[in-house]
Amino acid sequence: MTNKINIAIDGYSSCGKSTLAKAIAKNLNYIYIDSGAMYRTVAYYALEHGYVQSDGVIDEQMLVESLHLILIQFKYNSDTQEIETFLNGNCVDKEIRSMQVSAHVSAISAIKAVREKLVRIQQRMGENGGVVMDGRDIGTVVLPTAELKVFMTADVEVRAQRRFLQLKNNGVDISIDDVRENITQRDFQDTTRAADPLLKAWDAIILDNSNLTEEEQFSFLMVQARKAIEIKTLV
Ligand code: DC
Repeated sequence: MTNKINIAIDGYSSCGKSTLAKAIAKNLNYIYIDSGAMYRTVAYYALEHGYVQSDGVIDEQMLVESLHLILIQFKYNSDTQEIETFLNGNCVDKEIRSMQVSAHVSAISAIKAVREKLVRIQQRMGENGGVVMDGRDIGTVVLPTAELKVFMTADVEVRAQRRFLQLKNNGVDISIDDVRENITQRDFQDTTRAADPLLKAWDAIILDNSNLTEEEQFSFLMVQARKAIEIKTLV
């Protein structure tokens, strides 16, 4: 039996979930899975195939009927030392972070059939333990038996600032108001949708990182992870 635990990290948009999850996975030699990238990939596919109209209305039937044609893979790039997301064999890592995808991904992720497909894949990825997965429903739906669950939150202004700087560094021309608007909109959609809304699992630890550095968050979570691993070793 493996002593490897699963770690579920859920929370609001642009809270720094993936930065923290990646660092923890690297330290423990676990696999990091960015479940948001999977929803982003489906949103990108829908946009590319014209299933999202200019007014934002989604052709749900066409998308759902095409779901079996969507193959999502994560591959490690040894040059950048980053995990990249592939759609049907093509790297879409950059494309799925565009503002256009960000604007439609919450609506795409609210479609039940999309969730069912992705949740099934994510559960398979976690069945042997040793996974750090971040998203919105990991602790509640995808990996409800994860040994460590974290619910991340931060002040919306802090999140908007962080995301704005990140986009600016990536050469994206956008105003802070547009970034804030997108975050607020996604928070609303992610928490109010009918299918698997963003919720804190009853047994999740809350991590409000409004005033914490990345190092402080990392240290906090590593302590929790080591405790959870020790408990797993004992039982
Ligand atoms: O983590 P992110 O911002 O890249 O996620 C993009 C969107 O995907 C987010 O607005 C909500 C959705 N999502 C989801 O519904 N369930 C998940 N487990 C992960 C992301």
